[in-house]
Amino acid sequence: MTFELAKIRAAELRELLSRNARLYYEEDAPEISDRDYDLLLRELQELERGYPALVTADSPTHRVGGAAKAGFVKVRHARPMMSLDNALSRAELASFYAKLELSLGANVPVVCEPKIDGLAVSLRYEDGVFVQGATRGDGTVGEDVTANLKTIQTLPLVLAEKIPGVLEVRGEVCMDKKGFALLNAAREEAGEPLFANPRNAAAGSLRQLDPKVTASRKLKLYLYQVVDPEKFGIAAQSAMLGWLARAGLPVQGADARCTSIEEIESYLDAWAQARFDHPIDTDGVVVKLDAIALREELGATAKAPRWAIAYKFPPEQKYTRVKDVLVSVGRTGTMTPTAILEPVHLSGTVVQRASLHNQDEIDRKDVRVGDTVWVHKAGEIIPEVMRVEFGERTGEEVPFKIPPLCPVCGAEAVRLPSEVAIRCPNRSCPAQLNEEILHFVSRACMDINGIGEKLVAQLTSLGIVK
Ligand code: IVH
Repeated sequence: MTFELAKIRAAELRELLSRNARLYYEEDAPEISDRDYDLLLRELQELERGYPALVTADSPTHRVGGAAKAGFVKVRHARPMMSLDNALSRAELASFYAKLELSLGANVPVVCEPKIDGLAVSLRYEDGVFVQGATRGDGTVGEDVTANLKTIQTLPLVLAEKIPGVLEVRGEVCMDKKGFALLNAAREEAGEPLFANPRNAAAGSLRQLDPKVTASRKLKLYLYQVVDPEKFGIAAQSAMLGWLARAGLPVQGADARCTSIEEIESYLDAWAQARFDHPIDTDGVVVKLDAIALREELGATAKAPRWAIAYKFPPEQKYTRVKDVLVSVGRTGTMTPTAILEPVHLSGTVVQRASLHNQDEIDRKDVRVGDTVWVHKAGEIIPEVMRVEFGERTGEEVPFKIPPLCPVCGAEAVRLPSEVAIRCPNRSCPAQLNEEILHFVSRACMDINGIGEKLVAQLTSLGIVK
């Protein structure tokens, strides 16, 4: 590629990356997948490596995260909160470990940990008492989210062991898969925009000016780093995780100390499957040099340390056929279209249905009955139709429209101008009544034991409950 062409492409990439970083970090609403973002970033890094004259001070290759959100008090981090370099293939991971061995000797110990797909935070304890918590922001200045963090049940306000002086610990706030599925189902029902993944759901929930909203979202917290660990006599990552747990701070577990690339690879093989049964979404594995003292020898680039790397699992996508589209009616009458699929193995389960969300989504993706489609699981849990494989069209496919009448009670459906959802307006519609009662007896509401779907269906079909 000539310098002129490289210059044009670099400018294009910078604009794309800046826009998508803003959508991801500041608006919690990404438009492209993490992998596509990483690939674009990689392309820019390579152009800049080939033509150093193209490097600009504000290049996204030098940037960590996004800007702090207006409305939050800003916090300057005592030590910068860096990001991690990515390994997008096993070969890249092997080359990372080979470099470690070259600098530090054969079989140098590393720790492998699941990479939590959440939002990085830094917590400050003084004499064992939680005093402040902040998001990463741009790595130097973050947002003060102390009040919001205090709503997380597993965050200890006082440590189990009194640790004198200032302790700063770092980790990830996330939403578990179940919480994410429930939150999105409620948002779909209410006609609100859905979160693309648990990371965005967690970020959107933590970066709320009203802590009551955060409290309602059931966030989780896991720590993996002590800042200035030497101060506390911590000499290795493996010891750090145990130390955090003893201090009463939540850690994930599932870490392993490895001393060869073969051991690292077996960890990846095992975790590539085990992660589907893990309650939280993990999008890869972080491999860290175990010995803290050796880390300084390796140093850091502008945005990431050289002693660690994040291996990202390739996203699971499969293609299958849409056999039919069914419409279900929810508690508030929302009519939600669901694609009925030829069964397909995906991220640990057999998938036979995927929500199509609403008519706008069906039209935007142009999904028709009979189409071959690519499916994935948002946050490793919610099956979604990503796109149609138009090359497979035969002409026999049938476009789908949500019917003008409620499929359950026959009432004329309505669509409010401000909403994407089409609703059944009949409050006595048996489908709504069923869902309403199930909601009423659920754990989140009245928590009435012994009433399940079957009993509710009997009560409503006999007309006993109105
Ligand atoms: S260690 C110097 N360990 O992934 C940075 N990070 O993509 C040390 N992350 O910035 C970070 N799980 O926000 C570390 N087990 C883990 C992690 C983890 C998730 C996040 C973290 C990091 C980002 C990089």
